Amino acid sequence: MTHYQGLIHRYRHRLPVTDSTPVVTLNEGNTPLIELLNLPKKIGFDGRLLVKFEGLNPTGSFKDRGMTMAVTKAVEAGSRAIICASTGNTSAAAAAYAARAGITSFVLIPDGKIALGKLAQAMMHGAVVLQIQGNFDDGMRLVQEISSELPIALVNSVNPFRLQGQKTIAFEIIEALGEAPDYHVLPVGNAGNISAHWMGYCESTGQETAACGHCQGHCPYHPAQPLATQRPIMLGYQASGAAPFMRGGPVSNPDTIATAIRIGNPMSWPLAWAAVRESGGWFDECTDPEILEAQRLLAQTEGVFCEPSSATSLAGFMKDVKGGRIRSGATVVATLTGHGLKDPDTAIGQCVQPHRVAAERSAIAAIIERSL
Ligand code: F0G
Repeated sequence: MTHYQGLIHRYRHRLPVTDSTPVVTLNEGNTPLIELLNLPKKIGFDGRLLVKFEGLNPTGSFKDRGMTMAVTKAVEAGSRAIICASTGNTSAAAAAYAARAGITSFVLIPDGKIALGKLAQAMMHGAVVLQIQGNFDDGMRLVQEISSELPIALVNSVNPFRLQGQKTIAFEIIEALGEAPDYHVLPVGNAGNISAHWMGYCESTGQETAACGHCQGHCPYHPAQPLATQRPIMLGYQASGAAPFMRGGPVSNPDTIATAIRIGNPMSWPLAWAAVRESGGWFDECTDPEILEAQRLLAQTEGVFCEPSSATSLAGFMKDVKGGRIRSGATVVATLTGHGLKDPDTAIGQCVQPHRVAAERSAIAAIIERSL
């Protein structure tokens, strides 16, 4: 077969798989890198700004990159069930890949605090959905305890295979641009993704990172042919109500409208700090209004609809452009982690509401004339 068959097939020489590994894939990865044309002008940025639209993965978020690896390795090891805690997207991906593999998935989600589309996905794919009276951090603690006692594979990003899959985003970006960008901006929640991006960029230049060893010696570091000569400066943005990296330690009652990153005690704390420190980058935070403003601006000036958490990357970037922290003329890539359709309630709540109008030509024409 010659058509694209997912990131494990594409990058098998850079991933901990063998020819006999039973690959579980939905043809994830290979997402578009879209150059923004209007937004940079609007915010007074004179460089190139491109978005890697991870919302176009099979379940609508970047989690599919990690989940193809985690479920593949779980099946290879003989697991019949997987478990995760989630703010929504991980549960959607776990449920879908478990369905694909014909195994059982258990997902723990914070009651009432996940976007509707994500809940629908987990339910539709047949996961056993446990809505807990607690937040993501409570769920994370519980799944770690349970998976250490029962024969169930844990597929949160503490599972090293998750980061292995997610690192492939860096390979795709470098292939598309011919080189790594100058800056890479992304939202930070549990902090696995920023760690995985950095791992991918480091492997692409043949350099070691603190993440080396995280894969327990499985991954082929230092490829013979480096893909890139530089690594980007990594900028990680959090929502102000859930910003442990800005506060210097865990936050006990995280809250933000960007529910995907409503996390107070990130698991990949040391790796994320290493990514920022080794790259010469920084963490920053954005308020909920800033996040929603960025989400709307992107949708209305570029035609790209991402979920609120994903827009945190642009909200942070816009703030740093304004503050003069981004080098003039730089090439910047922003990861848009999930699709806007995941969270229709938040989108509808912040937009101009539809006109309610009689089904009559004159009434409709009047509105059109007013809006032209
Ligand atoms: N953006 C989206 C859309 C997410 O779903 C997440 C994490 C992040 C950003 C942050 O990535 O955790 O690697 O720093 N969602 C997880 C979940 C926690 O359960 O779906 P991170």
